[in-house]
Amino acid sequence: MKAITLIFIMSITAIYSFGQKHPYQNQSLPVEQRVNDLLKRMTLPEKVAELNLVPYYEQNDAKVKKDIREGKIGALLKANGAARNRSLQEEAMKHSRLGIPLMFHEDVIHGYRTITPIPLAESCSWNPELVAQSSAMAAKEATAAGIQLTYAPMVDISNDPRWGRIMETSGEDAFLGSVLARARVEGFQGKNANDPNTVAACVKHFAGYGALLGGCDYQNTDFSLRDLQERYLPPFQAAIDAGVKSVMCSYTSYDGEPVTMNYFMNTEILRKQMGFKGLFMTDWTTFNHAVSEGAAANGKEAAERGMLSGIEMDMSSWQYHNHLSQLVKEKKIPMKQLDNAVAHALKLKFEAGLFDHPYQYFDTVREQRTLLSEESKKIAYEMAAASMVLLKNKDNALPLKSTGKIALIGPFVTNKADFLGSWSMKGVAEEVVSVLEGFSSNQDISRIFALGCEQNGVSNEFIASATTLAQKSDIVIVCVGESCSLIGEAVTTARISIPQEQIKLVKALKKTGKQVITVLFNGRPLVLDEILQNSDALLEAWYPGTMGGQAVADILTGKINPSAKLTQTFPRHSGQIPISYNQRRTFGYIHHADIPQGAEFPFGYGLSYTNYIYSGLEAERDSIRIGTPVKIKIRVKNNGKYAGREVVQLYIRDEVASIVPREKELKGFQSVILHPGEEKTVTFNLTPELFTLYNNKMQKVTEPGAFQIMVGPNSADLQRKKMILY
Ligand code: GLC
Repeated sequence: MKAITLIFIMSITAIYSFGQKHPYQNQSLPVEQRVNDLLKRMTLPEKVAELNLVPYYEQNDAKVKKDIREGKIGALLKANGAARNRSLQEEAMKHSRLGIPLMFHEDVIHGYRTITPIPLAESCSWNPELVAQSSAMAAKEATAAGIQLTYAPMVDISNDPRWGRIMETSGEDAFLGSVLARARVEGFQGKNANDPNTVAACVKHFAGYGALLGGCDYQNTDFSLRDLQERYLPPFQAAIDAGVKSVMCSYTSYDGEPVTMNYFMNTEILRKQMGFKGLFMTDWTTFNHAVSEGAAANGKEAAERGMLSGIEMDMSSWQYHNHLSQLVKEKKIPMKQLDNAVAHALKLKFEAGLFDHPYQYFDTVREQRTLLSEESKKIAYEMAAASMVLLKNKDNALPLKSTGKIALIGPFVTNKADFLGSWSMKGVAEEVVSVLEGFSSNQDISRIFALGCEQNGVSNEFIASATTLAQKSDIVIVCVGESCSLIGEAVTTARISIPQEQIKLVKALKKTGKQVITVLFNGRPLVLDEILQNSDALLEAWYPGTMGGQAVADILTGKINPSAKLTQTFPRHSGQIPISYNQRRTFGYIHHADIPQGAEFPFGYGLSYTNYIYSGLEAERDSIRIGTPVKIKIRVKNNGKYAGREVVQLYIRDEVASIVPREKELKGFQSVILHPGEEKTVTFNLTPELFTLYNNKMQKVTEPGAFQIMVGPNSADLQRKKMILY
């Protein structure tokens, strides 16, 4: 009997030990428990590898695969495509002693293959639900192409249109930026981290990147703790409150020390004040930048100060790989701190399902079916149509009449590549719907006469031909703008206007005496004086993405009534920069003596084919005890003949405070759909939080006194009501 029992026990043991599941391999255990178990089993080099984020390029394929085999890499960026990423994951899974998978990161900023409008354009929709759908669509395409984490949303705030990266922002306002940061995080991450259609988001660039001096990218910044708390942190806080899984540091400094090594920013603020508990990574080789700008003697010092400041993953500099093991052995970095960083990196991989299904993101059939799907294009179209801002419409030149010959003229009539804007991932120019194609699909093409050209093709001869065409046409649409090579990272312009020859074209067309409809394609606020003087109508189309031309055609022909509103102030002249709607007040406003005062177009401005009448602003009470909510109402009536969506905006002005208050601040907005003649009451619930400020001790407080509650269609045209807090 004994022999049989012995054999039975040995065979059970053998079966169990062969298929043994260490706790970290047990899917039924909580992620935290699996992480902790795996950490215990990892060697120091394996831990350091988890913090090494390395760029992939086809030309370094062999080197990357060698580094993977040698256990030096934890995650890759710039590797994409289901087949390629599968091959890279196979290298990892074949050679990793503990079976630790790679994670794949990418810059999916406004779409992966189906490209939506640039983020600055998307923000002009004032539609967080639609922005969330846009992000979710991008995540669905990106995950089908082997990506699990995206370096978005970018939530920087700027008042300087010269900065090329202003196109990546959600505009100049912290309140709206916070609403859209939340929407993007929820769109990217969905409700369930291991849903293979969702990505981990990475909110960036922490923090204050947009405060660059002179609008020059990579320049250092110099801003106050007050600016940090009031303007730059709120969108990050919104992203953190929405559960963002990672943060990326900025290239810049705070109070003289590069953020990449700044303990105050990376631990005191991000972890202790803001409560972020996820993975914190550098931007591209920021440890090397610290050395090259003389803020650290060498890579080892930068790595030591970086880790001790709270930065956990090193993008592309290899300094963590080169020095962390030695720094731990020298006891300059506590093993506990290293373990915390590794735990944050591993947690993302467990949550994404990479340990249990290392190849679930690498299905080429799913990739083929998902990219550029009709569903994706529909969202891109809706986003484009919702982001285009009608800036002028003299004598109701728009929407176009349904008869007559239409002349489509200019360098953006057949242009496709520029529609993708900057950070356009795997967008393909040939897949863009141009303006000509948009009109051809929604109009009788016998009406359409197109004269397009290259960006640098607006010659005198071209202008002469354009003028001739215009004279023979009933409707003249001119499509102009700036090359998207002038926006994005590492680009700053001194001038913020379209090329002179394009202005000359618009002027020549106006001289024909015809109505001129101008459509603008750009990635930043521009000085538009001469364009405005020579256009009867002006539509700001931004860089509208894959479906941009269809959206332009459908708006101009009246199929869509534009509802977008500017989220970045348009100056009259670049000499007014920095310019915003909510600057701090002063005892004496000195305006530029040589130009009319104020902005060309204020924050929140945008026209519709109909018009809205605001009336009857009233409050539940005219005075409220601090800490109690109060409702205010206003009636909005559609007084025109087109149904439309109106973005009703709420601003608050603190009349007297213990610090210099701002002119006004956006504190809420609501969209309302109104049919011709329809009137609705819009109610805002003013919560106590809306009346708070940072006092001169940087404490968040509410001070008694007089406030103005302001409601209207933009930041300049407002109905006002006094409110006393006591
Ligand atoms: C860049 C950018 C950052 C981007 C990263 C990876 O230099 O500053 O926004 O996500 O590198 O491409």
